[in-house]
Amino acid sequence: MSNYHIKNLEEYYQVYRKSVRNPELFWEEVAEEHFVWKKTWDKVLNYDFSKPEVKWFEGAELNITENCIDRHLATRGDKTAILFEPNNPDEEAEKISYTELHKRVNQFANVLKDNGIKKGDRVCIYLPMIPELAISLLACARIGAIHSVVFAGFSSSALGTRINDCEAKMVITSDGSFRGVKTIDLKGIVDEALEDCTTVETVLVAKRIHSDIPMKEGRDQWLQPLLDKASEECEAEVMKAEDPLFILYTSGSTGSPKGMLHTTAGYMVYTAYTFKNVFNYRENDVYWCTADIGWITGHSYIVYGPLANGATTVMFEGVPSYPDFGRFWQIVEKHKVSQFYTAPTAIRALAKENLEYVDKYDLSSIKVLGTVGEPINEEAWHWYNDNVGKKKNPIVDTWWQTETGGMMISPIPYATPTKPTYATLPLPGVQLALMDEQGNEIHGNQVDGRLCVKFPWPSMARTIWGNHQRYKDTYFSAFSDKYFTGDGALRDEVGYYRITGRVDDVIIVSGHNLGTAPIEDAINEHPAVAESAIVGFPHDIKGNALYGYVILKETGEGRDHNNLRKEINQIITEHIGPIAKLDKIQFTEGLPKTRSGKIMRRILRKIAHNELDNLGDVSTLLNPEVVQSIIDKRLSSELVS
Ligand code: PRX
Repeated sequence: MSNYHIKNLEEYYQVYRKSVRNPELFWEEVAEEHFVWKKTWDKVLNYDFSKPEVKWFEGAELNITENCIDRHLATRGDKTAILFEPNNPDEEAEKISYTELHKRVNQFANVLKDNGIKKGDRVCIYLPMIPELAISLLACARIGAIHSVVFAGFSSSALGTRINDCEAKMVITSDGSFRGVKTIDLKGIVDEALEDCTTVETVLVAKRIHSDIPMKEGRDQWLQPLLDKASEECEAEVMKAEDPLFILYTSGSTGSPKGMLHTTAGYMVYTAYTFKNVFNYRENDVYWCTADIGWITGHSYIVYGPLANGATTVMFEGVPSYPDFGRFWQIVEKHKVSQFYTAPTAIRALAKENLEYVDKYDLSSIKVLGTVGEPINEEAWHWYNDNVGKKKNPIVDTWWQTETGGMMISPIPYATPTKPTYATLPLPGVQLALMDEQGNEIHGNQVDGRLCVKFPWPSMARTIWGNHQRYKDTYFSAFSDKYFTGDGALRDEVGYYRITGRVDDVIIVSGHNLGTAPIEDAINEHPAVAESAIVGFPHDIKGNALYGYVILKETGEGRDHNNLRKEINQIITEHIGPIAKLDKIQFTEGLPKTRSGKIMRRILRKIAHNELDNLGDVSTLLNPEVVQSIIDKRLSSELVS
C-alpha cells in the first residue's frame, strides 16, 4: 500500500517529489497495487500536448465495475455500498450491500443489452438522486456503453441539446422527482426534449413518484418489470484502458456545452487514489458527498472513487432546507457520517440560519470535512470549521474541474496544515504552473497568474466529444505545451495555491458553471430584446449571481419592466434551467463597446460590483457616454423570483 494514506507533511513532499521525478513509475505502482486488471499495460504513459493526445496504461484491459463491485464481494459482500437517504425523512433509508449492488447492476446491464445497447453506444441518464441513478451508470460501464448524465434540473431544451450532441440511443429517466416540498415531472421534460431528437430509440422509466404519466408506445418502457425479468449475471465487457467511460457536459464561455470525454483506466486509478488519500478513508467509515451525480463531483466522488475503494457512499435525494435547515446534520448523526463533502454555497446558506440547527445533532462521527466547486470565503470557512468541524476536523478545500476528472489541489488531512480560502498544495502527480499573459511561466512564491498544468495526470478528459479541435483550442492553445484551466490563482510564500476565480466568461453561481453566451442567446430570443450582456456580481449565498444588461427593441418600449424581467427569466429557465436565472436585470439604451464592436464586460462587471471609482479609461470606447447612463440607472435590489 505504498502511496496511500500520506501521514504527514514530510511524507507528502516525499511522495510528491517521487510523482514528479518519475510519474510513470509512481502511477504504475498505484495501478498495480490497488486494482484488478484483465491484462496489464504495455506502456504507462504516452502523450503529446501539441496534438493533444494523452494515453494512460495503454494495452491494459479491465472493467471498472469489476473494480468497483465484483472484487469486493468476497470480503465486503454484506457491507453497505450505497446508502440511500430519501427526500422525506420519514421514508426509510435503503442500504444496498455490495452483493445486492452486483445483482442490481447486472440486471440493469442485461436490460440495456436486451434493448439493443452495445459497447460504445451513448446512453443519456436524466434521473433524480435515487439508487437507479448510480446503478445505471455502473450498468452502462458493465457493458461498455458510454453514459452521459444530464443533471435533472436542466430544462428540456438543454437536455435535448445534450442528447443530440452525443447522439444518444437511449434515455433513462423517472416518472418524476421529489425535491423538498416540490415534485418535478421529469418524464414530461424528456418527452419535450425528444420532440427534436431522432436518435433515441428507447426511454426507460423508473418509478419514483408513482404518477400516472403518458407512455409512448414502442419507445417508453417501465424499468422495474424489465429488471424483474432480467438475469442477475452479466459478464463484464472487456474494456481497453482508453475506451470511453462517459461524457459529461460542461458550459463553455461561448458556444454549445462541451461534452468532456473521460476514459476508463486512468480515470479509475486517479479517482480511487485521490478519494482514499484526500478523505483519509478507512474501512468502516461512512462517506457522504452532498453533490448530485449529474455533476462531475458525483461521478468521481459518489460513485466511482468511493466504490473502487469498497467504501460506503451516501446518496441523498433531498435538499439541505427540507424539512428544515438541520437536515444535513440530522443525516450526519443518523448514519454516523465520517467524511462530509459539500459546496461553499450550501455552507453559506446554512450559516445564515440559526445555529441550533447544527447544535441539536451529534456530529462527533465526522473526521474530515470537504468543500468543492467554487472558492470558499473566509467567513464560510470559519463557520464550517467552528460549528461543524468543532475546530478539530481538517477541511479539505479541493480544487478541480469537470475536465480534470479528479481533485487536483487539496490538503491531505492530518498532513497538510490548512489555511482558510487556500486549496493549498497540488496532489501527487499534479504539476502546476502559473503563467503571465505573455505566456511566460511565473516562478517563485507570492505571485499570481493563470493556472495551468504542465504534465498529464491520469484522469484528464481526453477530448470534447465530436470536436477535438475545440478541445485543443480551449485548453491547449493559450499556453504552449500546457493545459490551461481557465482559472486564476495565487501562490503564497510557502507555495500554497489560492484559486482567485475564472479568468474567462464563465461565471460560477452556487457552484455551477454558467457560460454567459448561452444565457445571452436565450435572452435575445425574447421578441422585445435587441441585445444583452451578462456579468457576475458577488452574492452572499450563491458566491456569484447574474446581472443582465438588456437593450430593448422599440416593441419593448413602454412595456412593464417587471413583467419583462419575469419573461426574460422564464425564457432562461426554458432554455437552460432555473439555475441560470438572473438576479438583476437592468434595461439600458446601450452597452459599452470597443471600436471593433466588442462589449466591454470589464466595465459592466465593475458597475455590477458597484466599483465605480476605478472604471479605467473609457475614452477609447465607441460610445463612452453610455457608461454614465448605465451607472445612473444601475440596480441595487435583486429580483424576487
Ligand atoms: O473555477 C473553478 C471552480 O469550479 C470550476 C470547475 O467547475 P466544474 O467543472 O463544474 O467542477 C466543479 C467540481 C469539481 C473551476 O475551474 N472551483 C472548483 N473547485 C474550487 C473552485 N474554485 C475555488 N476553489 C475550489 N475548491
